[in-house]
Order: sequence, then C-alpha cells, then structure tokens
Amino acid sequence: MSLPLELCCPACRGPLAAWGVGAVCQACDRRYPGDRGYLDFLPELGAAAGDGLGPRLMHSRALARVYERVWRPIFIAAASGGLPDYRAEFELVLSALATAEGGAVVDLSCGPGFTGRRLAESGRFERVFGLDWSLAMLARAAADNRGLMRLVRGDVGHLPFKTGSIAGAHAGAAFHMWPDPSAAVAEVARVLRPGGGFVASTFAYTRGLRRKFEAMLSQVGQFHVFEADQLRGMLSAHGLVDFDSERRGSLIFFWARRAGAPAA
Ligand SMILES: C[S@@+](CC[C@H](N)C(=O)[O-])C[C@H]1O[C@@H](n2cnc3c(N)ncnc32)[C@H](O)[C@@H]1O
Repeated sequence: MSLPLELCCPACRGPLAAWGVGAVCQACDRRYPGDRGYLDFLPELGAAAGDGLGPRLMHSRALARVYERVWRPIFIAAASGGLPDYRAEFELVLSALATAEGGAVVDLSCGPGFTGRRLAESGRFERVFGLDWSLAMLARAAADNRGLMRLVRGDVGHLPFKTGSIAGAHAGAAFHMWPDPSAAVAEVARVLRPGGGFVASTFAYTRGLRRKFEAMLSQVGQFHVFEADQLRGMLSAHGLVDFDSERRGSLIFFWARRAGAPAA
C-alpha cells in the first residue's frame, strides 16, 4: 500500500519510504512495522504508555471492547449532567472542520475509531487518519476500520506528520489524558496548514459546588481538568486563533484555527 504523503518520521521528520507493509525513514533508517492494520511509529514502546489510573486504563483490551457503547456514554452523561448526544457532538465536529474539506484530517487519540470512521464516511475529506498510542484501542479500530481510515500508532507529543500538511484535527475526550497537553498543542499547530481547524473536547472546571466533584474526578482518575481560560491561553500560545467553546456541564467543546490564510 502506498504511503500517504502527509506522513514523516516522528523522530527526525525525515521522509519515509515503503518497507514491506510498513515504512522506513530515509534519513535515520528507523523502521516502522505496518502488519497489524496500522503503521506503528512506537514499536519500541510495547504496550506500556501513560501514567495514572485513567491513562493506564486506556491500554486495557477489556475497556477498548466496551469503550464506545458503555464507558464513554457513562462518562459523558456524568460529566455533562445530561443524556449523551453523540449525534450533536459529531455535527459540532463536522462544522468546526468545515475549512478542512477536501484536505487530510486526523482524529487524534481516536480510541476505537468511531469518530474517525464517521469523518471518513462523510466523504468530505481527502483522507482521514486515526492516531492513538494504545495497542488495545488500535486493535479495535483496525478490526472495525473497513479501509476507511489510515491508522497510525503515535504519540500526540511527536506527531508523524509533515509540518503544515494537515487540514484539520479532532481530539475527542482525550486532551485530559495527554501527559503534556501543551506540547501536544504545539505539535497540532505545527502539522496544521495555515487556516487549518482544530476541535476538541475535554473536562473543564465549572463554578460552584460541581467544582469539588470535578477535582475529585481528576484525582481519582488521575487526569487533568482545565480552566476554560487555560485552554484558550494554551492554544493561542501556539498560534491557534479564533478560539470558541461550548459548555455542557463539566464538558467543554472548543475549537480554533491555525493563524494565517489557507494557500489559494
Ligand atoms: C478517553 S479516550 C478518547 C477516545 C475517543 N477519541 C473519544 O472521543 O471518546 C482517550 C484516548 O487518548 C489516547 N491517548 C492518551 N495519551 C495519548 C498520547 N500521548 N498519544 C496518543 N494517544 C493518547 C488513549 O490511548 C485513549 O485512546
């Protein structure tokens, strides 16, 4: 299978060439296997990645099996204080990625891949990548993929994409799990083309009594909870502008675009 032109070596950003069903970096000679339905840019990491209970759970095969239908809806309901409405969430993602139509988009931390598959099925994008670092999540994503996404195993802190090659990026319910969200945003900003859209959802503190619940959730699950202004500041520090957001309880959906105009 040919290699998508957006990909590069995440270690040295050198160009890649096909190596069997995988890829080899033509600059540093690192080899990335591709025989499990995804290109593995973290072959040296094995199954271990992530610190803290919440992040570690994402590497469990049992969780990956029930994530979309059980785990996620329960978490979204608890965080938003209402019934989960994935259809509305997906519409919001699609509209935030309107400027990416015709280009390559990436579903960052795609988990078992349900949003990335829907983005591909929408027919609006030239190519859809699904990226995650969990072997368990990617095994599910690969099993259900039906050739829709180009799946890659990678770390959001070292994206395997060329600078300015990606038209839009989505990160659903993942920001709080990332070990270094600011470093990941820097990477998102690097790979987005000028004008490219970024849309994400995560947990953010509300006011009043609920704050205590949010702080407890963050301690027990060992993941981040953000202040809304902190997210705006983080994105703008890395050149992502026109920040906007929508709240549903402790959930925040936010979007921005890389500064600059798209090439004509
Ligand atoms: C709660 S799940 C979100 C899955 C899906 N995007 C959704 O909308 O529900 C968080 C995902 O982030 C992934 N993840 C956490 N840290 C990551 C990192 N540094 N690089 C890539 N993926 C990461 C986990 O493996 C997990 O699949």
